[in-house]
Amino acid sequence: MKAAVETAFEAAQGRLASGTKSVEKSAFDITLPGRPLRRGRLHPITQTIERMKEIMGRLGFTAVEGPEIEDDWHNFVALNIPEVHPARDPLDNFYLSTAACGLAAEKDTHHAKPQAALGPDGKPLLLRSQTSTVQIRTMEEAVAAAEGKTPPPVRIVSLGRVYRPDTADATHYPMFHQIEGLCIAPGVTMADLKGVLQMFWQSYFGLESNEPIEVRFRPSFFPFTEPSVECDIWHDGRWMEIGGAGMVDPNVLRAVGYDPEQVTGFAFGLGIERICMRQHGITDIRDLYANDVRFLAQF
Ligand code: DAH
Repeated sequence: MKAAVETAFEAAQGRLASGTKSVEKSAFDITLPGRPLRRGRLHPITQTIERMKEIMGRLGFTAVEGPEIEDDWHNFVALNIPEVHPARDPLDNFYLSTAACGLAAEKDTHHAKPQAALGPDGKPLLLRSQTSTVQIRTMEEAVAAAEGKTPPPVRIVSLGRVYRPDTADATHYPMFHQIEGLCIAPGVTMADLKGVLQMFWQSYFGLESNEPIEVRFRPSFFPFTEPSVECDIWHDGRWMEIGGAGMVDPNVLRAVGYDPEQVTGFAFGLGIERICMRQHGITDIRDLYANDVRFLAQF
């Protein structure tokens, strides 16, 4: 082995010494410009998500995730959305169905029809239409972990995909992203909500320019908050609508096992695409998902 390596090494040395170099020289034109390396980068939506997570993290909010396939309880019932609410309309949700499978399908491949995919409660599963589902999962876990004692305060954000059967146009897409925030503790008030949103947006838009960001609440309605507000921020010389928020409805707290006499909380939910598009001057949401590198390389 050693001998073989040594012979090969000597042969190589011999080749180098005997002017093979000049042949190589003529084969390569070292004055040609190199091939540019294409550097990858994060998708603008991912960049926006990372930035939001980082700012909320500094405000003490832990980022958590939830499943994109949800059941009736987490997407609707626990969020105080009643059985007859229009938000449950099949035209507004992606309900799931199973491909026919198993023995029945093997026997009767022609007539086996896809069936509604059912959750543990026997109700149809769906692609979540809002990240508010993660509020429920987080509070349920906190209550379960406390084993009958008072659960510790909850401060979370959840950023992820949501799905609605909208026809794609410049401002709609059947999949988009939301950031959801939730804070539960004794004595949390709407002033805390406004303060957190103010600090969040100050960091997000106003840090560099040092321009003070103003947060404005307008009365609104969501089944899972009471009172509910639409939130606007004053940025770049105009009011910009950024999403919904409010104080967690006592019905929601009760649904997950909290005593609304003991704790209160606030929640908010914002669309991420809208912020990202505004920030970068993107005018068509479809550009974000066309996977055109010439577009994506700009961010
Ligand atoms: N889930 C709402 C939506 O998709 C947004 C929202 C509004 C979330 C108010 C919240 C909230 O947490 O408090 O339109």
